[in-house]
Amino acid sequence: MRLLETIELTKNFFGLTALDKVNLHVNKGEIVGLIGPNGSGKTTLFNCATGVLPVTGGRVKFMGEDITGLKTHEIALKGLSRTFQIIRIFPKMTVMENMLLSIQQHQGERILSSIFRTPRIRRLEKEARERALKLLEFVNIDHLKDSLAGNLSFGQHKLLEFIMALMPDPEIVLLDEPAAAVNPTMIKKMMDHIVQLNKEGYTFFIIEHNMDVVMELCTRVVVLNYGEKIAEGKPEEIKNNDDVIEAYFGT
Ligand SMILES: Nc1ncnc2c1ncn2[C@@H]1O[C@H](COP(=O)(O)OP(=O)(O)OP(=O)(O)O)[C@@H](O)[C@H]1O
Ligand SMILES: [Mg+2]
Repeated sequence: MRLLETIELTKNFFGLTALDKVNLHVNKGEIVGLIGPNGSGKTTLFNCATGVLPVTGGRVKFMGEDITGLKTHEIALKGLSRTFQIIRIFPKMTVMENMLLSIQQHQGERILSSIFRTPRIRRLEKEARERALKLLEFVNIDHLKDSLAGNLSFGQHKLLEFIMALMPDPEIVLLDEPAAAVNPTMIKKMMDHIVQLNKEGYTFFIIEHNMDVVMELCTRVVVLNYGEKIAEGKPEEIKNNDDVIEAYFGT
């Protein structure tokens, strides 16, 4: 089943065509990699798919439904979650508070700040805390739940952002460079987590420059260059594709 699909997706920034009629899809159960040189349009594609940026042309579909032009929280509610290339957490709040905030928009209730502590709100908060704790345990940072998020190491930040994206129990998670600037031990951990979650049924769409990560993790890879899809296939096919080699190393 196709979870996410772009059809002739196009994005112009003034004179620049950041995405040029891109057709791609991610099936349920896959770990698809999105690669390409700097500035090739990868983050822009995530932004257009998740409603962060309006598209110039083409469509985005999620589980067969046209979601083009929907707001970010409407898209998130449908089961599409993401991380950002630049970490977005609240440093002055605790790790647990960040986890709880990440789910608010999905539940459509202001759990933390609600004045009316109805039984329903209390139950939702309890469930959210339990899920947050389970995820923190999953990536082994549960001992940091009451620390200020600003005090975490860079690698721990990345893990926190990763599990924040998992809080609403999405169908698909879009990760924008989960391994960037992360040390090898942490990269290995992150990869193990992704593999395990994939076995549990989560689908991933991952932007990543680290080719070892892409080659080992991804079941399929899509390559962008100057906003155009130039290749698509199994990791080993992509590695030996002349157009891809040219895009990365050509002059
Ligand atoms: N908000 C914006 N306004 C204007 N131009 C933008 C904007 N966002 C991206 N661009 C431009 O669109 C092109 C694609 O950028 P994008 O960030 O999608 O690339 P990328 O493939 O994610 O690159 P990187 O690997 O460096 O993260 C670049 O030329 C970039 O400068
Ligand atoms: Mg990017």
